[in-house]
Amino acid sequence: MNGGEFTLRLAHAADVAALTALIQASVRGLQAGEYTEAQREAALELVYGVDSQLIADGTYFLVEADRVIAGCGGWSRRRTLYGGDRYAAREDSLLDPAREAARIRAFFVHPAWARRGIGGLILEACEGAAAAAGFTRLEMGATLTGVPFYRAKGYAEAERIGVPLRDGESLAVVRMEKRLG
Ligand SMILES: CC(C)(COP(=O)(O)OP(=O)(O)OC[C@H]1O[C@@H](n2cnc3c(N)ncnc32)[C@H](O)[C@@H]1OP(=O)(O)O)[C@@H](O)C(=O)NCCC(=O)NCCS
Repeated sequence: MNGGEFTLRLAHAADVAALTALIQASVRGLQAGEYTEAQREAALELVYGVDSQLIADGTYFLVEADRVIAGCGGWSRRRTLYGGDRYAAREDSLLDPAREAARIRAFFVHPAWARRGIGGLILEACEGAAAAAGFTRLEMGATLTGVPFYRAKGYAEAERIGVPLRDGESLAVVRMEKRLG
């Protein structure tokens, strides 16, 4: 799919190194207003990152701009609400589309490409794919940085969660939800 200058495609295992670099740049460049440097670095080590299960499931997208990966994000039919491969509290069991909300997962846009509609392009693809898989509701654990973005896309704030980091620090995350259609 091509959104003007942007190309959307599914991520592959071969993209993981580039995606890891993109996630670091996104967190360091775009989250400074909401989280301290210590929180951002601890979260990069313990929480954020590529979730290889999403790539294997074919539910993780990326957008290329000028042949460079400018953003990524996905959805999931599995229970884990947030967290990459290194995040300990994962739950890979499958959700029931009739009763449960699909997850929106791990959206990161490179600072050089922020506010150009890339996040929106990926979210639209995720919502379409989740609907095609039979889900009628979506939810995610949004960073404080992500809240205005998801709010603009029709998601409502449901609950604030503190994700434990280290040295008594925690990462404030907001569970947000949306009904499709
Ligand atoms: C959240 C994020 C993915 C949004 O990506 P993006 O490509 O910049 O978003 P879009 O350009 O599609 O934004 C669509 C709309 O969302 C809203 N929005 C996005 N970022 C916003 C911000 N920082 N402040 C206020 N509104 C914002 C706006 O309404 C925007 O439309 P507009 O630019 O026409 O005003 C990006 O800011 C990011 O990567 N942040 C750092 C990593 C992170 O915290 N990710 C969230 C994980 S849950």
